[in-house]
Amino acid sequence: QWTTASIVDEQVARIREQVGDGRAICGLSGGVDSAVAAALVQRAIGDRLTCVFVDHGLLRAGERTQVERDFVAATGVNLVTVDARERFLGALAGVSDPEQKRKIIGREFIRVFEQAAQDLQDKEQYDFLVQGTLYPDVVESGGGAGTANIKSHHNVGGLPEDLQFKLVEPLRALFKDEVRRVGLELGLPETIVHRQPFPGPGLGIRIIGEVTAQRLEILRAADAIAREELTSAGLDRDIWQCPVVLLADVRSVGVQGDGRTYGHPVVLRPVSSEDAMTADWTRLPYDVLERISTRITNEVAEVNRVVLDVTSKPPGTIEWE
Ligand code: XMP
Repeated sequence: QWTTASIVDEQVARIREQVGDGRAICGLSGGVDSAVAAALVQRAIGDRLTCVFVDHGLLRAGERTQVERDFVAATGVNLVTVDARERFLGALAGVSDPEQKRKIIGREFIRVFEQAAQDLQDKEQYDFLVQGTLYPDVVESGGGAGTANIKSHHNVGGLPEDLQFKLVEPLRALFKDEVRRVGLELGLPETIVHRQPFPGPGLGIRIIGEVTAQRLEILRAADAIAREELTSAGLDRDIWQCPVVLLADVRSVGVQGDGRTYGHPVVLRPVSSEDAMTADWTRLPYDVLERISTRITNEVAEVNRVVLDVTSKPPGTIEWE
């Protein structure tokens, strides 16, 4: 019977054997998998691991801090943050098509990461690249699972093959719940270990329409409120995730105080799911929905309407793009 501690010991021993006295790079996305993979490798080879975190400007409120402060505090890992916010905004300017956006974000991400890896290589030799591939990812990429091609998935850390690295994939035999237990065993904070899924292209695919700095700010504020209220209602573990989507090209008339408003709607998309292949819309309590709606329309000036997505997957996907 495998205990979590024995999984950690076994993986640490394997990593040490594979990497020897070499150096490794790991791309952090802010998500659970890359964080746990990095923490394991850090445990195994310490300072010879360097993590790279690309801030593409499509992150949610607090996510950069979570990596730069909390993850580093928990692991003591070497971290390089690349601030690529301007670059991504520039590349996304004028683009509204969902697949176009996904392709641009994926392409820019790889370029930025490659440059960061090259900068590190210029100083020291790195032979290994750490990836947070899980067992279901291994199965899915081999087996061609049903919905894999509906949207071009961008996984932060998914890199081209011509990168001259050997892969270190310490989570390859694990399922998500095991990864979470390993993360806790390694001392990672709950906020990272139990983080809900968040897509690689981030808020970029939750703004329906062109992505601009101002729209990102609006969505980030609305999303933060929804997350705060769901957390304080104790619902985080009951829902799979709750994307908040900004309908940036839609306006509707409203009234606030004495004035007429002409603002944007946001959509709440709470879903329950086992594996994201299918999902049901979550019946959130009305009082929680009310608090989220009231706070968003009061606190985010540009939003004057909050709507609820009651579509299952299929036919809807979880994300709107
Ligand atoms: P969909 O929208 O296809 O999403 O029902 C299924 C799950 O995958 C997440 N998602 C992504 N995750 N890169 C990721 O790492 C992506 O490009 C991506 N697109 C969607 C989505 O949040 C949901 O959990």
